[in-house]
Amino acid sequence: MARLHARVGTIRQLEILLAVSRTGSITKASKLLHLTQPTVSVQLKKLADDVGVPLYEQLGRKLLFTEAGLELVKSAREIMESFDRLEMKLSDLQGLKAGTLRLAVVTTSKYLTPHFLGEFVKTYPAIDIVLKVANRRQIIEHLETGEYDFYVFSHPPENYELELVPFSANPLVPIAALSHPLAREKKIPFEVFAREPFLIREMGSGTRYAIDRHLSAKGLELNVRMTIESNEAIKHCVMSELGVSILSRHTLALGGSSGLKELDVEHLPIRSEWYLARLANKEMSVIASTFLDYVQAKGELFAELLAT
Ligand code: PGA
Repeated sequence: MARLHARVGTIRQLEILLAVSRTGSITKASKLLHLTQPTVSVQLKKLADDVGVPLYEQLGRKLLFTEAGLELVKSAREIMESFDRLEMKLSDLQGLKAGTLRLAVVTTSKYLTPHFLGEFVKTYPAIDIVLKVANRRQIIEHLETGEYDFYVFSHPPENYELELVPFSANPLVPIAALSHPLAREKKIPFEVFAREPFLIREMGSGTRYAIDRHLSAKGLELNVRMTIESNEAIKHCVMSELGVSILSRHTLALGGSSGLKELDVEHLPIRSEWYLARLANKEMSVIASTFLDYVQAKGELFAELLAT
């Protein structure tokens, strides 16, 4: 019989196995890896056939790894970590000449992150950048995989050991169409703003999370009328007089504020901060630590850029 390493499937199959183990479900793993469910199931089955023993049992909707499955997960993790270390060593040996910096950022920070990537890329032109943009909940799911060097949140999750570098304020401000009667008012009482139809980001969005937390801490309520999964779409709906909203000031300052007005409303803006986050126990490549130094050194410059 062929030795085990010749029988165990491909690295991709091991990645699939690890994603299933991390998420506890084939459905979630297939979403995480952008694969179809049948592809994930077939690859797992092939892996089990190669190893020659069942790797998991399906109990109703629950997936339970067998002892053999757990052992394979452990070895797969070690193999992947060893590849990561090799990649890191190789880029260290090349003295930063080449490599990849992987960033996963929440949608609202897409107005901001490209500005601080610009100069970094000019200084290190052979470094490739992978930039994942998704809402807060989806970016938290990517924390599980550890596949990114850094994450950008303004509301980092509390149940992960993260190293956080704050780099700029992120005020969430009330907005209305320029033509809206409130656009001419000063010191608007919150209950007056709250009577307007309110357009809100989807559940899972960091902006939504911050608004919900702020309202419940102050015992306030809004007249929520529409849920919209995009800052830009919200801005256009507000411009079209469909209602008012609360968005990061960066969506206006860096994304364009034409047809919109930031309002002066009691209890607002909501104060928050942008953070560059990394998993505390993940080894840092030379590329990643160079980027971290760069962000720390340029923090003030970003703040200035954003204040204008
Ligand atoms: P969001 O996150 O883009 O998912 O709304 C923004 C934030 O965390 O403030």
